[in-house]
Amino acid sequence: MKYTKATRFTQSFIDENIMGPNPAKLLEQLLAAYPLEAGMRVLDLGCGRGVTSIMLAKEYGLTVFATDLWIGATENWNRFRQAGFGDGRIVPIHAEAHDLPYAEEFFDAVVCIDSYHYYGLDREYLGKHLLPLVKPGGWLLIVVPGFRRDIHDALPEEMLISWRAEDLDTFHDMAYWKEILSATSGLEIVSVYEMEDLDECWQDWLNTENPYAINDRASMEAGSGKYMNFIAMALKRK
Ligand SMILES: C[S@@+](CC[C@H](N)C(=O)[O-])C[C@H]1O[C@@H](n2cnc3c(N)ncnc32)[C@H](O)[C@@H]1O
Repeated sequence: MKYTKATRFTQSFIDENIMGPNPAKLLEQLLAAYPLEAGMRVLDLGCGRGVTSIMLAKEYGLTVFATDLWIGATENWNRFRQAGFGDGRIVPIHAEAHDLPYAEEFFDAVVCIDSYHYYGLDREYLGKHLLPLVKPGGWLLIVVPGFRRDIHDALPEEMLISWRAEDLDTFHDMAYWKEILSATSGLEIVSVYEMEDLDECWQDWLNTENPYAINDRASMEAGSGKYMNFIAMALKRK
């Protein structure tokens, strides 16, 4: 895909702030398929350093609650202010995904890029903790890194250069995710599909000097990408 929004960030901003395969490109791809209307209130869950949060506000005109566990609210607030969002259009929140400090039916949409696999594999999570926060008819747009086919029983040796088996525990295939989602009532599974540009999004990450990216290089250079994908899940609250 040709990216016109994700590529507006400076290279140094991307290099310093992404925490995995280029989340700005994954977001642009996702919203090209499932557009959100300007003015909507969106929960960016697992936003990390807020690259996607800034993009949601700047490029799509959304009001964003940028919520993360590992990155503190003050750190993100400083970044949002520097990006021109000191006016509250992006609200930084430090919270755990099972204890989100929001009212039920508060959000028009939830966006979750490269984060949901850390907590959403619990079959009860969605119905109990996240879906109630979305208005009826609202969207949940999720991207997780996954496997083209579940290979936990026989992990290829290329993958084990950079990662331990437990590092890959959260990677699953589309069938696995569909089965997890099917446990939640009040949810329309609009689409679960494999995204484009795996190599490009990974390469943007591997090119950074983040120590985790440096660690990931050997396995990816040995060809692990052929077993992997990005899985998009477009869900609607009934
Ligand atoms: C790989 S990083 C991706 C961050 C960002 N979306 C990006 O792509 O740059 C995963 C993010 O998920 C968040 N996360 C993991 N477990 C979480 C939880 N239980 N509650 C809230 N956020 C969580 C982490 O804080 C982290 O920032």
